[in-house]
Amino acid sequence: MQDIDRIVQEARAAFAATDNPDALEQAKARYLGKSGRITVLLKELGRLAAEEKRKAGAAINQAKAAVEAALTGRREAIKQAALSARLAEEALDVTLPGRGEAQGGLHPVTRTLERIERLFASIGFTVADGPEIETDFYNFTALNTPEDHPARSMHDTFYLLDEGGRLAEGVLLRTHTSPIQARYMQAHVAKYAGQETMPEIRIIAPGRVYRVDSDATHSPMFHQVEGLWVGENVSFADLKGVIADFLRRFFETDDLKVRFRPSFFPFTEPSAEIDVAFTHGAQRWLEIAGCGMVHPNVLTHAGIDPERYTGFAFGFGPDRLAMLRYGVNDLRLFFEGDLRFLRQFV
Ligand code: PHE
Repeated sequence: MQDIDRIVQEARAAFAATDNPDALEQAKARYLGKSGRITVLLKELGRLAAEEKRKAGAAINQAKAAVEAALTGRREAIKQAALSARLAEEALDVTLPGRGEAQGGLHPVTRTLERIERLFASIGFTVADGPEIETDFYNFTALNTPEDHPARSMHDTFYLLDEGGRLAEGVLLRTHTSPIQARYMQAHVAKYAGQETMPEIRIIAPGRVYRVDSDATHSPMFHQVEGLWVGENVSFADLKGVIADFLRRFFETDDLKVRFRPSFFPFTEPSAEIDVAFTHGAQRWLEIAGCGMVHPNVLTHAGIDPERYTGFAFGFGPDRLAMLRYGVNDLRLFFEGDLRFLRQFV
């Protein structure tokens, strides 16, 4: 009998020492398996006399039940432990501080460009595009500015080197968005070639442009928004109306002071510069655009009959519009990438 108690205790200890199902099943085999210690005891019962057999049989069966109970208990405990370990491993600590989200925002010039696009879209203008590395032809020649024209020197820009380090002939960083006028008109004419009437052209073209120029109101890279409206009976009065209406809506002021100052551009005739009055201490005028009626030579160059069609064009400086709208007094702030400045617009 002492023997049986010891076997039960040993079995309990053996089960308790295991920490995974496999080890537990192996321990079980040593006590309850085919040649396990409890099984062996039961087999040996046959050799005992009837009276003893009954007593020993009862004791062994009790022991067997105790070992089985210990086994079941341990199985459950191992299962629970595995579950707890998994829960701990997969735990999500909701009290941890977050990693923080870097909040991006649109650049004030981007906001301004989008605003301009929206306002012009509302009066039927679509957005056109052109390359920043432009050919001499589209940047100047197609815009009525031949090789020896003095207007070219006002547009001193960045030229490009070829692979051998020599000045690349005929290409430059565009000095204005006006080449898009020439490109668009040419493509438009090609698209409607052979048709009785050419549909109207009504586009704006925002983009980066480059000039050798740098001070508080000039930057070597800046933006322009070109505008072009060509059709039958498009007049200077339309130009003034479109521009004045756009500016009032852009600045959300009905009594905005706008001035058209006669000027010169090779690709428009007559030409004007557009100034807006702003108060910075005293009232001052800030030039924000050039404009005019598309020069007949430019129309002819694109294959449009200047006797039948007329048009106006303008080129806005959206950076300057952004300065006025947000009250920024130095253009360079827009392009220095200083987050302390840029964050104010988010
Ligand atoms: N391209 C001119 C400039 O950069 C502006 C302009 C555009 C003038 C369209 C007239 C018409 O100064």
